[in-house]
Amino acid sequence: MTTPSIAVLTSGGDAPGMNAAIRAIAKVAASRGVHVVGVENGYTGLLEGRFRELTRTRHDAVVPEASIDEIGSLGGTILGSARELRFLTPEGRRPAVEQLQRFQGLIVVGGNGSLAGAHALAQESSTPIVGIPASIDNDVGCSASAIGVDTALNTIVAACDKICDTARAHRRAFVVEVMGRDCGYLAMAGAIAAGADAVLFREQGRDEATIVASVEQAIRRGFADDRAKQRVLILKAEGVAMPSTTLVRLVEERIHADLPGVDVRATVLGHLVRGGNPSFQDRMIAGRLGLAAVRTVLAGTSDVMLAWQAVVPGGTPTDDGAVQRFPLAQVLAESRALVDGTSPVTRRRVQLMEAVEGVLGL
Ligand code: F6P
Repeated sequence: MTTPSIAVLTSGGDAPGMNAAIRAIAKVAASRGVHVVGVENGYTGLLEGRFRELTRTRHDAVVPEASIDEIGSLGGTILGSARELRFLTPEGRRPAVEQLQRFQGLIVVGGNGSLAGAHALAQESSTPIVGIPASIDNDVGCSASAIGVDTALNTIVAACDKICDTARAHRRAFVVEVMGRDCGYLAMAGAIAAGADAVLFREQGRDEATIVASVEQAIRRGFADDRAKQRVLILKAEGVAMPSTTLVRLVEERIHADLPGVDVRATVLGHLVRGGNPSFQDRMIAGRLGLAAVRTVLAGTSDVMLAWQAVVPGGTPTDDGAVQRFPLAQVLAESRALVDGTSPVTRRRVQLMEAVEGVLGL
């Protein structure tokens, strides 16, 4: 009889903490006598049968490979990641369904696209498939904080602190753009933590003229004689269609005449925000979701995602109070609502930011 094994893959945009999830999965499975196979480069590796052993047998026991100890502190993903277009159709997914027959379960660590792939595959395969949310954008439904969000926010805050050092030296205003294609969470939370004067995100639904006017107002207010700030910081989410350089140019044109000494600069943090060693919180979330994911696949449950401190009612409680299980269909529906603005979570975030708008600029 061959020793049972489960597969794990990381997919989509990488997130700090993905390796900590892989580490947890390898250790928990090994403790139960189950081998773990890493799939290389996300769904691409699953289609093409590219696998790597993450555990081995030693004196009749299953143990993690020695390197597993080292990976938990690393950013990125040791398995590699990909956005696989073949996975969008049932025909394209067929080789993956065949590959899965050799495994007792598959754990998918990734964001919404990856979880949609897991949901589709779960309809076509009898192998249990379980998701773990990992995306710096924090746009995964039913999840209070996906793996990677905390590290990304720490990176944003540290970058803003540095930018503010130089901004104060020259009494400048900076627009700092952070990732978040469909979801402005990083900009919102980062603005509060970094002490920004204003924040711009797609969910505000502002047109270009309003965006320019709001940045102009933040700068005028900050540098007014009665306030006399040394710097003005504006956080802007990537999802705001207007390029940061265009925004800065238009604002400068408007303030040039009466604030001649004030420069406005743009810094796009981009992929910098996705890298780096995972924070304590991301490692802890990854560890606890990894534990629950292994238990879930080994119990034969499929088509679900484990979520951290989910506030959405209706999930099935696990024996970890901060971890809940949700059907992937529910997760994906909630993710769509987060992005199109109909989710109460999005409405709450927007309302909260509107409520603090006057406070930020003080
Ligand atoms: O991981 C999600 C995300 O960070 C988005 O915010 C961003 O738009 C995208 O990834 C960029 O991805 P890529 O690596 O394909 O440039």
